[in-house]
Amino acid sequence: MSKVAVVTGAARGIGAGTAARLAADGFAVAIVDLDEAACKDAVDAIAAAGGTAIAVGCNVTDENQVAAAFERIAAELGSVDVLVNNAGVLRDNLLFKMSVDDWDLVMSVHLKGAFLCTREAQKYMVKQKSGKIVNTSSVSALGARGQANYSAAKMGIQGLTRTLAMELGPFGINVNAVAPGFIVTEMTDATAARVGVSPEEFRAEAAKITPLRRVGEPADIANVVSFLVSDDASFVTGQTIYVDGGRRL
Ligand SMILES: NC(=O)c1ccc[n+]([C@@H]2O[C@H](COP(=O)([O-])OP(=O)(O)OC[C@H]3O[C@@H](n4cnc5c(N)ncnc54)[C@H](O)[C@@H]3O)[C@@H](O)[C@H]2O)c1
Repeated sequence: MSKVAVVTGAARGIGAGTAARLAADGFAVAIVDLDEAACKDAVDAIAAAGGTAIAVGCNVTDENQVAAAFERIAAELGSVDVLVNNAGVLRDNLLFKMSVDDWDLVMSVHLKGAFLCTREAQKYMVKQKSGKIVNTSSVSALGARGQANYSAAKMGIQGLTRTLAMELGPFGINVNAVAPGFIVTEMTDATAARVGVSPEEFRAEAAKITPLRRVGEPADIANVVSFLVSDDASFVTGQTIYVDGGRRL
């Protein structure tokens, strides 16, 4: 039976790219996102490539929905071996214009979402004495104008990663994080629209200030996640790997 990977926020973007890569690596994949119907393209793409995937509608901020989602995944796919906490949102604004709702939503999706999903996943992983968890931080953790909420959440993810690596290590569970730089997705295209430039211009500007002189694609993150959940990374835990073309050097 295939090992099972759960990827949150996997209907599109980095999550969909990661789910496709893990399916190609041989995992049966649960595509978790807010709207189950929106997961169809990601599931179909995996099936068309010969892989196994199911769509699971779940708001990662809702304790009951998360518990039900993991029960369903374990029942349908047989276990939970890998969890990629990837679901995310932006609500950018300078501090004086940032609403409490914008603060709360960003904290909730990134931090509470990762907490709730990991708490469910570890039940299966601790029992089987093995598991791999990859959280999603960001270069914005290091500070980003207009992103007080997001930066705090993404640095929080790094603290969560280190702490859970300590707690879960004795059970054979590795917990790491990836911190993407600029990756071409609907999230970065939406930011371009918000600041009033075309996606192409926005990408070109980002590439200019990146040592490797390009922006990233979802596959750039998926490649590193694939390594972190592989046996080759079995002695790596508590780490955050920046995958940003050198943007924050
Ligand atoms: N794109 C980048 O440049 C970049 C850079 C650094 C970090 N990241 C992080 O990578 C992750 C993926 O980003 P992306 O660019 O693919 O974004 P995206 O907006 O394209 O995809 C995010 C997905 O998360 C889902 N989602 C949002 N809230 C959810 C919730 N409460 N429950 C379940 N699913 C939810 C969305 O529906 C969407 O499908 C995010 O955590 C983001 O913060 C992205």
